[in-house]
Amino acid sequence: MKLLVTGGCGFIGSNFIIHMMESYPDVNVINLDLLTYAGNLENLQDVAPYGSRHRFVRGDISDKETVRCLLAEKPDVVVNFAAESHVDRSIMDCCSFIHTNIRGTQVLLDACREYKIPRFVQISTDEVYGSLHAEEPPFTEDNQICPNSPYAASKASADLLVRSYHKTYGMDVVITRCSNNYGPLQFPEKLIPLMITNALQDFELPVYGDGRNVRDWIHVRDHCRAIDAVMRKGRPGDVYNIGSEAEFHNIDIVRYILCRLDKPESLIRYVEDRPGHDRRYGMNAAKLRSELGWTPLISFEDGMNQTVSWYIEHEMWWQRIRTGEYLNYYEDWYGKSLGAANSKPKC
Ligand code: NAD
Ligand code: DAU
Repeated sequence: MKLLVTGGCGFIGSNFIIHMMESYPDVNVINLDLLTYAGNLENLQDVAPYGSRHRFVRGDISDKETVRCLLAEKPDVVVNFAAESHVDRSIMDCCSFIHTNIRGTQVLLDACREYKIPRFVQISTDEVYGSLHAEEPPFTEDNQICPNSPYAASKASADLLVRSYHKTYGMDVVITRCSNNYGPLQFPEKLIPLMITNALQDFELPVYGDGRNVRDWIHVRDHCRAIDAVMRKGRPGDVYNIGSEAEFHNIDIVRYILCRLDKPESLIRYVEDRPGHDRRYGMNAAKLRSELGWTPLISFEDGMNQTVSWYIEHEMWWQRIRTGEYLNYYEDWYGKSLGAANSKPKC
């Protein structure tokens, strides 16, 4: 099986490539990633032993020629992780969110149609559904989409485009909508890695608003196994929710991290709330469980313990992000002969 994975140098994409390499000896991956601030080629050091089964190409999913060039190699599936993913950045300026999340998805869809790619998997998010009240049941696939942030609106737009290519052109597409991920290799701007790395340095932990917003957490490797199942067995044109029923208030996550690291709660600093801050997400993944037989394997407690340990053991990884040194890694890698051979699309 040959996959084109986009955004494979980000948090979830890199975990997915590692999962695929470890799980299947017959899978080859072309990884198209622009290496924005969120893309880090160092995330893929663990796939080095798999040699040419993973090929990295630096490029933009909105660049038609690059995309067409790679699809001419006829991958069996395109899995689209590439996105601007941080809500706070979308509130400051959403141009790049429109460019990548909407325009980029459209370019990929058009090229998949042109090259008759057998399947397109769109990695979406629970945020397209909007916000839940405390007493409401978790989102099912039948909930209407009602996005509240520019990020969520851009992801919802992409979902609608993907759906429309199925309805209009009969393309085989599937959409996954997952809850909040945590685990190794997450960029330290997101809640859990930010709080862990700040606490490790005795910096303040900024908690938005009253800290009582609720997120539904899933370990990134459980998410990757779910994508794998949907990619192989999902019904064409369908949406699959992914979640592991682990809803927590933000403040409880922060307190848990401080306790685990033996740091004082005086590090907590309540700050101004995020504008339009969704109060609660919760996912009902019954369809994925019953139709595709997926079930999460990592409990929140085990996953968090492992994640905190990972950040303790990989201080070099996140310090290089904090200082910006990670941005040089690509240039160093590209200078090597293997890198130079690997990096250009073969047209
Ligand atoms: P991330 O920000 O860590 O990674 C995004 C990757 O996309 C980076 O490697 C970046 O360089 C790349 N990229 C950005 N613009 C690009 C472009 N124009 N062309 C090619 N590559 C580009 O994001 P993530 O947290 O790994 O999320 C991956 C996907 O999963 C996103 O689509 C996101 O919406 C979705 N998602 C994330 C979560 C979560 O909790 N993180 C939950 C549900 C769904
Ligand atoms: O739900 C899935 C989504 O989860 C993904 O689609 C997004 O790509 C991903 O970024 C994430 O979005 P959130 O906005 O939920 O994640 P974030 O880590 O930014 O924030 C989680 C919660 O923590 C949210 O309620 C805001 C709060 N928060 C966040 C930060 C960064 C704080 O209180 N302080 C902070 O410094």
